[in-house]
Amino acid sequence: MREGTAPLIRREDYSAPAFWIKSVDLTFDLDPAKTLVINKMQLERNLDVPAQALRLHGEDLNLTRVLVNGESVSFRHEEGLLVIDSLQGVPAGPFTLEIRNTCAPEKNTHLSGLYTSGGGFFTQCEAEGFRRITYFLDRPDVMAVYTVTLRANKQQYPVLLSNGNLVEQGELDNGRHFAKWNDPFPKPSYLFALVAADLVAREQWVTTRSGKNHLLQVYVRRGDLDKTEHAMNSLIASVVWDEARFKLPLDLERFMIVAVGDFNMGAMENKGLNIFNTKYVLANPATATDSDYLGIESVVGHEYFHNWTGNRITCRDWFQLSLKEGLTVFRDQEFSMDMAGSASARAVKRIDDVRTLRLSQFPEDAGPMAHPVRPDSYVEINNFYTATVYDKGAEVVRMMQTLVGRDGFAHGMTLYFERHDGSAVTCDEFAQAIADANPQSELARLLPQFKRWYSQAGTPRVTARGRYDAPSRTYTLLLEQSCGSTPGQAEKQPFVIPIAMGLVARDGRALALQLEDEALPASGAYPQERVLVLSENREFFTFVNVDEEPVPSLLRGFSAPVTLADGLSDNDLLLLLQHDTDPFNRWEAGQRLALARLLAAVRGDGDLQLDQPFIGAMRGVLTHPTLDAAFKELLLSPPSEIYIAEQLESVDPQRVHAAREAMRMQLAQALRDDWAVAFEANQATGGYAPDPISVGKRGLANLALNMLCLDAVARGDTVWPGRAYQRFKDASNMTDRQGALWALLASHSELAEPALARFYELFKGEPLVIDKWFTLQATAPESGGRVFARVKALMNHPDFTIKNPNRARSLIAAVCMGNPAAFHRSDAAGYVFWADRVLELDGINPQLAARMARVMDRWSRLAEPYRSAAREAVSRVAAKPDLSSDVREIVTRALADA
Ligand code: TRP
Ligand code: ZN
Repeated sequence: MREGTAPLIRREDYSAPAFWIKSVDLTFDLDPAKTLVINKMQLERNLDVPAQALRLHGEDLNLTRVLVNGESVSFRHEEGLLVIDSLQGVPAGPFTLEIRNTCAPEKNTHLSGLYTSGGGFFTQCEAEGFRRITYFLDRPDVMAVYTVTLRANKQQYPVLLSNGNLVEQGELDNGRHFAKWNDPFPKPSYLFALVAADLVAREQWVTTRSGKNHLLQVYVRRGDLDKTEHAMNSLIASVVWDEARFKLPLDLERFMIVAVGDFNMGAMENKGLNIFNTKYVLANPATATDSDYLGIESVVGHEYFHNWTGNRITCRDWFQLSLKEGLTVFRDQEFSMDMAGSASARAVKRIDDVRTLRLSQFPEDAGPMAHPVRPDSYVEINNFYTATVYDKGAEVVRMMQTLVGRDGFAHGMTLYFERHDGSAVTCDEFAQAIADANPQSELARLLPQFKRWYSQAGTPRVTARGRYDAPSRTYTLLLEQSCGSTPGQAEKQPFVIPIAMGLVARDGRALALQLEDEALPASGAYPQERVLVLSENREFFTFVNVDEEPVPSLLRGFSAPVTLADGLSDNDLLLLLQHDTDPFNRWEAGQRLALARLLAAVRGDGDLQLDQPFIGAMRGVLTHPTLDAAFKELLLSPPSEIYIAEQLESVDPQRVHAAREAMRMQLAQALRDDWAVAFEANQATGGYAPDPISVGKRGLANLALNMLCLDAVARGDTVWPGRAYQRFKDASNMTDRQGALWALLASHSELAEPALARFYELFKGEPLVIDKWFTLQATAPESGGRVFARVKALMNHPDFTIKNPNRARSLIAAVCMGNPAAFHRSDAAGYVFWADRVLELDGINPQLAARMARVMDRWSRLAEPYRSAAREAVSRVAAKPDLSSDVREIVTRALADA
């Protein structure tokens, strides 16, 4: 394990490598206890930098041999590096370096490098895992061509895979066999992968536009083949979409996805050999929910799209991580939206993405881990695979598209590939290509300022004030921006903020938008929606020929990752909720009405008491004749406890929970009959399909059932809980089954226990479903400390193991992050539990431990007595002497946020 005093790495210290590795020939003799790695490299001095010794990364390896051009040389070890001094100033031109080492895959609990899972071998090399396999220049700007030979026992490991194309395979002595793979594309070491396991594959041939045939494969364990159809369909759709939307074809003869049960994250884009967490591959209607299906589609898309945005053009250094991640998240979001089809279904996806951003990125940007989309420094790069790099990074790319238009953005992408295909670049090159392809755009005009989105952390706040002048029929909008300080960044310069907007008349009409001194556009009419670009601290925008005082609808589609304070009244919001042509802002108006009531209840002393206008508006949504079910469900779900808490200066999680539960109960009671109608009207019929209409129906029916049970249990009525139990038993798909179980749990029905027991019996052989079983219990609404007590008991359940990341997340992360009222206890037991788990996990899997450690990021916002107790727990973790650098970085930053 690395020491807690690991150095800070700074972006400004980047220097090109002293050597290039042109090609590498790897041979693996695979054995769980001791795997031999023979690593033959062709190197060359980089003549652009001063002569230096060769310094190779290596971690947890046993070195057995070092040969330069076939001769042994002397070497030394220096802080995780293997140093060969005699190579300083070698003559220009190639030389060979052969290294032999061993490693112990079965002892590798970090799940980084080469490890075993379910009796097979798997690798995870991003970001710095390759150095745990062999000695190398383990940095993304060193790109080599790989040839890989795998040797292993044939019976135990019948499938031997690596990147690229299979060139040879055959038998060896002693029941062993081999396979040799070649990847023609030079790649950084983080994209290397191998798999050796007993797997089966679903296969599909596809023909791309050029007429070439490609083999797609999805590898899983025997017995899971019936859960691969959706992943394969998603992969085929991804191939088609990237060619259609961005003209980016599949560039390999064979493209493989492999599912593995032990995995730190979602999935990994290794060239031609994507390795996936089983959670993002395996699905059938009986075991996976609608949201699992959607997750699979977007992660399969994400990893596939990395083949161009990440692999063909990669990152020069890890500070540029958002170059590939922000762009690829943007691409997977666009893919899912295009797959969704209708305008309403697209909006549902957009709302979902914004909810995620607000739930994880906004708190990050306001807390001790706040960092720019392109960070300036890190201790442990794994800690910077964050919501900011991924999701805010995607919003930055989206703003570029908004500023140059959809076609302009596609041209920008084309130019980006013309310029940089096959190389390792920075975020600057990307932004420059998009701007250069659109020289007349606002992006080109404001590029240096726009790039502050990459360099400044924090969520900007936009304030808007409108003034209508009846005599001159003008409407003037004053927009102002500010951004609070973040760690290491006290002052902020103004951002370039695209604000999509419209003006709505009192009768709901969309008004024409004519700015002062603006000529009639060629289309012959002024638009009803446009994008204002705010680039100063404050700017006025004056609209002319405005007949009446309008209600402004700003930040449509969430056109920038900011918070908006527009001072709209309840009446204004009710108008937007009814009439806004922008579905996002329609949803937002409803959320704001709910949020205002929740915040008033949390801040005041009285209990929450919903008013008739609000209830009437919600009834209007629920009974609306044309709104899609999915959209209704989003509108009728109150903001999450985490989102509510983020609006408060001082957070009492119990008060937040109480207010939100009161809102749910009052909506359940006030709309009882309408919920019943909605439940009946939204029964998806026919076979299971995860299409937006059916998904929406199931979602709304489940919400309705939840509400009906809540109301019934409170009244002592057993009819609806009984129906929910019946539905739970008879459900033909996991969405309905889990929804019914949740309705029982969330209403504290007596039937919850028998349902949970039955659920376990039904699915005890399905690890991903047992994860759900743990999570349902960990996230059930707390009452009297019972949920927390149950979680502690479940830690001793025979199916619980902290070593499997999915299982650890299903219980520990679920209660600590997903159930604030169970976690934040006045007796501090939740914090004690958290500290114990982080310390326990740190000895096993530091990456995962550091993720769990982030639960306490916002401790300093808590009200007493939570705040002091939380601080004490963080301090206890920080006091451990041999803490990993991963966890140390997180808790050190947290404690600095006093
Ligand atoms: N690059 C991967 C993705 O975004 C994620 C990833 C980064 C990852 N580091 C990892 C996955 C470590 C597993 C383990 O798709
Ligand atoms: Zn990614």
